Amino acid sequence: MPEFARRMEHVTGSAIRELFKLLADPGIISLGGGNPARESFPVEELKEIIFELMTESGVNLLQYGSTEGYMPLREAYLERIAKPKGIEGDIQNVLTLTGSMQGLDLLCKVFLNPGDAVLVESPTFLGALQAFTVYQAELVPVNMDDEGIIIDHMEEMIIKHHPKLFYCIPTFQNPTGKTLRAKRREQLVRLAEKHDLIIIEDDPYCDLRYKGDPVPPIKKFDEEERVVMLNSFSKIISPGIRVGCALGKKEIIRKMSVAKQCSDTHTPNLTQAAVAEFLSRGLLPGHLKRILPYYAERLAAMLDSMDECFPESCRYTRPEGGLFVWGELEDGINVTELFKIAATELKVAFIPGEQFFTCPEMGKNTFRFNFSSENRKNIESAIRKLGALFRQYA
Ligand SMILES: Cc1ncc(COP(=O)(O)O)c(C=O)c1O
Repeated sequence: MPEFARRMEHVTGSAIRELFKLLADPGIISLGGGNPARESFPVEELKEIIFELMTESGVNLLQYGSTEGYMPLREAYLERIAKPKGIEGDIQNVLTLTGSMQGLDLLCKVFLNPGDAVLVESPTFLGALQAFTVYQAELVPVNMDDEGIIIDHMEEMIIKHHPKLFYCIPTFQNPTGKTLRAKRREQLVRLAEKHDLIIIEDDPYCDLRYKGDPVPPIKKFDEEERVVMLNSFSKIISPGIRVGCALGKKEIIRKMSVAKQCSDTHTPNLTQAAVAEFLSRGLLPGHLKRILPYYAERLAAMLDSMDECFPESCRYTRPEGGLFVWGELEDGINVTELFKIAATELKVAFIPGEQFFTCPEMGKNTFRFNFSSENRKNIESAIRKLGALFRQYA
């Protein structure tokens, strides 16, 4: 067989998936993934919408569609998602994506040459690290504190590495659950203007807020159109339908859409139309109102149990939304080793935090817990068991 391309050399596949081979046992409680709760899906609403769509426009929806996306979805996205967040735009500013993950891939495709530097929050979303690695980018981690990215450190890294892109998950970040303060969002944009940088604002969790006030998107401060905002319907409607949207400067969106032509031609019409109907019928606010209390309850159960059972030396975030809690044990503790014990002996899974760093030596003592996919009782039981394990090593 011929050799695989060099660009795949450093892409190892998700180490998380490898770890999860340990979890074939159906009795395991998983705080590992990032799946929405099974109970959260609007099955009945989508069943009705899809039946009506197929009855009324089946032939059109089963035909090829346009690469830029199904027009009613792009319109509904502008009206129902972007506008309420204070973002105005034209149809040509919007591209439908096959999941927001595709937005990342397309942005890499249109901006990155091998060796180009990309700034990322440290730690960050594993899928993004993989995408940048496939395109042979130089990954430059930027430090965070409790309020998100540290602006001075970011400027230092810009001056040193001359990056083209900065990738940011500003709200209820994956993996840390942290939210970037509004003031820093503005500072970030001013830095991008000063140093000729594009900001990728990946914001799939912003509508999963359980308390506190919404923070304006980074895009809100974007006077020179340097921010490409990615929104996903995965966490607020369903990940299986694979629909997201990108909003940015027309020139960038046009280039992304050319790149999308040779990627998947277009996002499936049927799922785009289903999301468009869901939005234009005004179903999203009611749906969120139904699911947010579930998640709020599960997050509270997780934090209360951690407060009760975890060692004093363990520090963890207290997010106001999203799907994740991030924690840190004392230096020197290898959480991947604890994960193996937890998965095999305690039948509890979570993600060791080192997976989310650009460098394998970082974050060995950290972990990410997800609270959306298990019920309250299972979360409490899992945290009790993990608390006992962590105490032994603290
Ligand atoms: C920060 C972030 N971006 C993007 C995605 C992928 O979203 P989508 O399902 O829309 O591709 C995820 C999924 O977990 C994520 O956490």
